[in-house]
Amino acid sequence: MTEERGLDKGAELHAAKGEPLASSQESLPAKLGAELIIRFYRLLKAADFYNRNNIHINKLTLDLFQIINAFIQAEGALSLKIIRDTFFSNKIRMPMKADQYSFLKNFSQEMAKKCIGEIEFAAEVGEEELRDFIYLLALLEEKNESNYLFINKQLEVRRIQNIVVGKLEFFISQEEIASSDEQKRQAKKTYFHSIHLVQEMAEGVKKQKMVNIRKAKHLMENTVNSIMQDESTILSLANIKNYDEYTFNHSVNVAIYAIALGQRIGIPKKLLSHLGMAGIFHDSGKIKIPIEILNKPENLTPEDWAVIRRHPVFGAETIMRVKEWGELSARMIHGAFDHHLKFDLSGYPKLSRKRNLSLFGKIITLPSELR
Ligand SMILES: [Fe+2]
Repeated sequence: MTEERGLDKGAELHAAKGEPLASSQESLPAKLGAELIIRFYRLLKAADFYNRNNIHINKLTLDLFQIINAFIQAEGALSLKIIRDTFFSNKIRMPMKADQYSFLKNFSQEMAKKCIGEIEFAAEVGEEELRDFIYLLALLEEKNESNYLFINKQLEVRRIQNIVVGKLEFFISQEEIASSDEQKRQAKKTYFHSIHLVQEMAEGVKKQKMVNIRKAKHLMENTVNSIMQDESTILSLANIKNYDEYTFNHSVNVAIYAIALGQRIGIPKKLLSHLGMAGIFHDSGKIKIPIEILNKPENLTPEDWAVIRRHPVFGAETIMRVKEWGELSARMIHGAFDHHLKFDLSGYPKLSRKRNLSLFGKIITLPSELR
């Protein structure tokens, strides 16, 4: 069904108002294919909002009904197939005009979400049958590969024999595979560099050495870029657990999750790098906590906890001492100081007066609780 075929001499068709939609020299799919998709998409979207007897739905169903049956009258049947954003109607690749592009793209995305790649009308359909079908389509679960089976079953139950749907076929080109591999490789490199950097930083701070701020900022920019390209790759890396270097991995993971969260809530790209830096250094105060307490295999005593609870203050002090942080400094201090405070300030350190949790503190709190 995917091969193109020569141009058919389509019958002269008339749209709802009885006007020809295009010149008679064009093939039927070329003439009416895009219009068919546009009407389909409009009705499908409207079915998300209105009930099936709504006046708007009546009008859109009639529009679609007329164009589908016009196709069937001329060609005996109508099949629609979507392959990677390209539409084929009755096996003919549908030409796309610039002003139709967004409709076709939206429709193909909508169908991809529903995992439906093919719709066939074997004979003329009734308006009610079409309405049933559209509401079945509209109510489908997203990303369920069995959706086509569900629809076909439901059509059978309703004794609608003229409509059959098929599964969406995924075609991934070699270039896409290569570029996603490259993307994963880069994300991995960034991730392990980040861990190494936090390690280096911790050593540097301990030994009162210079901290390589430029390198840190650069890495965070790379992390932001990786997340913006493909959130899933870097987030799956963030699940790696290595207990020997727990704090380092944890800090990198917190930075990654914080960036992903920040991106979701619309924080601008430059601030996302800052957020990542604040995430990476949020636990930097732990370098002042004796390692025997951090790695204690037994339960911690109340005294141990009292020491551990000081790490947000130690972290804020450490960051304050690094002069090169510049405008980043205040946000990083908040990230370190606030990350165990909790939203109602019931956490630690105890505050002498109430205030709101900083935005960076709020964001970093969430992934920092993940263990
Ligand atoms: Fe912490």
